[in-house]
Amino acid sequence: MRIGVLTGGGDCPGLNAVIRAVVRKGVREYGHEFVGFRDGWKGPLENYTMELNLETTRGILPRGGTILGSSRTNPFKIENGVERIKQNLADQGIDALIAIGGEDTLGVATKLDSLGVKVIGVPKTIDNDLNNTDYTFGFDTSVNIAVEAIDRLHTTAESHHRALIVEVMGRHAGWIALHAGMAGGAACILIPEVKFSVDKVCEWVESRFKSNFAPIIVIAEGAIPQDGDMITKDSDLDAFGHVKLSGIGEWLAKQIEEKTGKEARTSVLGHIQRGGTPTAFDRVLATRFGLQAITAASEGDWGKMVALHGTDIVRVPLASATEKLKTVPIERYKESEIFFG
Ligand code: F6P
Repeated sequence: MRIGVLTGGGDCPGLNAVIRAVVRKGVREYGHEFVGFRDGWKGPLENYTMELNLETTRGILPRGGTILGSSRTNPFKIENGVERIKQNLADQGIDALIAIGGEDTLGVATKLDSLGVKVIGVPKTIDNDLNNTDYTFGFDTSVNIAVEAIDRLHTTAESHHRALIVEVMGRHAGWIALHAGMAGGAACILIPEVKFSVDKVCEWVESRFKSNFAPIIVIAEGAIPQDGDMITKDSDLDAFGHVKLSGIGEWLAKQIEEKTGKEARTSVLGHIQRGGTPTAFDRVLATRFGLQAITAASEGDWGKMVALHGTDIVRVPLASATEKLKTVPIERYKESEIFFG
C-alpha cells in the first residue's frame, strides 16, 4: 500500500515518535510505501509532500515538534477543498491516510472518511481533551514542563512574599492545570469547567501567606470568573473558529493586588508547554499509537482512531473522538480542592 501521513493542529511532543513507528513497522512488517504530507491538511490540499522512509525517520524519536510541519488548515473552508484532496491523493497513488491530530484535524478526517477517503486517526494534543481515549500523547510532557515551572516559582515567590500566578494552556478543558496544580502543590487551581470566585481565590491567597508560604495559583487560559467572560487576546478567529486566549492570569493578578494589597505577578507558559523533547511516557504512548495505526491500516480497518483504554491500545470509531470534548469531571476537580488555601 502507499500511505500518506500528516500532522495537523497545534504541535505537541511525541508526533515524531508516531511517524517513526508508523514508517518503521509499515516498511519492515508490511512492505508499505509512505508519502509525508506537509503542514497538516495543507499537504494533501496543495500536494505539498516530503519523502517518508526508514532514512528520513531515523533519529527523530526524542525530537519535539513534527518533521512534517503542521497548520490549522481546514479544507472544508476552502473552495473545492475536498475535491482537490481527493484528486491529489489519486494523482500520488495514495491508498489511505494516517492523520495525527486533535479535535480539528480528526474532525476533518471524520468528514473525509464519510466521503470515501480511507483514513486512520491518531489522537494528539497537550490538552488531553479528545473523547474516547484515556490519554493523548503530549499531555504528560506539557504537565511536566508546567510542574518544573511551578517548582521554580515556589522558591522565588517565597523569597519575595508574592502571589505568583501560572497561566497554562487549556481553552475548554483544564487537564493541564489540574494535573500540574496537583503535582506542583498549588494554592488553588482554576479551570474552564468551574467558574471561579475572585473573593474565594483571595481567601486562599491570604491563607497560604498566613502559613508563611507564598501562594502559587495555577490557572487555565480558558478559566472564567463567576461574573465575567473568557479573556481573549484579540477577536481574530482561526480556520476552525477558535479565538486566541491569554490574559486571564494578568487580570487575576490585578484583582488579587486590589483586594488583598499583596503583590501578585503572572507567568504565562504559552508555547513552552508544547516544545522540546517528549517524556518517556509520551514516547512510549506515541510509539504504541503509531504501531497500532499502521496495523489498522494494513487490515483495512478504516474510519478508526487508535486510543488508550487503561493500558491497552484499542481502536474506536473515528467519529467518537470528536463527538464531545473530554472535560475535567467535577469530582476530579473536587479531589484537588482539599489542598487549596
Ligand atoms: O490545542 C492545543 C493548544 O496548545 C491549546 O492548548 C491552545 O489554546 C492552542 O493550542 C494555542 O494554539 P496556537 O499555537 O495556534 O495559538
